[in-house]
Amino acid sequence: MNEMDFYLESIQQLPAIVDRGPDEKENITRTFNEFVDLAHLYESAIEVVKTYLGILDSEFSIKYQRNPIHDIKSRLKSAESIINKLAKKGIALTPDNARRNLLDIAGIRVTCYYISDIYVLAEMLSHRDDFVVIKQKDYIKDPKPSGYRSYHMIINVPVYLAAQKRYAPVEIQIRTIAMDFWASLEHQLRYKTSAAITPEISEELRECAERIAETDIRMQKIYMDINGMD
Ligand code: GTP
Ligand code: MG
Repeated sequence: MNEMDFYLESIQQLPAIVDRGPDEKENITRTFNEFVDLAHLYESAIEVVKTYLGILDSEFSIKYQRNPIHDIKSRLKSAESIINKLAKKGIALTPDNARRNLLDIAGIRVTCYYISDIYVLAEMLSHRDDFVVIKQKDYIKDPKPSGYRSYHMIINVPVYLAAQKRYAPVEIQIRTIAMDFWASLEHQLRYKTSAAITPEISEELRECAERIAETDIRMQKIYMDINGMD
């Protein structure tokens, strides 16, 4: 979704967000402007992280003649998802509440070639002295019960605006191409299909994730053997 779609969707939701009262028009204008600023801040924070990842990728390729990053995708959470998530948490629908309570409005997904690449990138991201790591979870070491594997980070990213520096949280998911293959299909099967997912199917999916994880480790070992690493 681009920024403009985000604004348009936000406008449609405005009547539900603003307090009703004599100052309604002023409230709507203020809330709209806050949404525009917020979307711009998050888009900019995504750009800061993507630029840094691009620099790391090219530096790695100069040093080791190989790129660690296969692909980078990013998205802003839709206004509809923001509203649903806040409602679920029982929090009033305001842009400020969204900013303070939802840490995954800005999302980046990085796919890598090898498991070791994930840890190199996570390490680099956490060592930048202007990035503040709020949360990180290693679902590769400790996979989710579903079988899901990925490295998750939430980083507060500084954005230099004309008059001030503002921080925005960005959720970064780092995984191998193989982990991404499983996560994409599993997500599709679980959420986009009308058929019920039985415990047997869940177990089958978990076993597939396990197989894929074994293959990732074998591919990593082949890479290390070929390059004389141990
Ligand atoms: P908490 O929010 O603290 O529970 O942890 P978290 O943010 O690290 O994980 P959460 O369960 O919120 O998942 C965040 C994102 O990870 C989701 O939006 C998905 O993109 C992805 N994810 C998590 N679990 C699964 C899973 O079982 N299958 C797939 N396909 N994706 C998952
Ligand atoms: Mg979460």
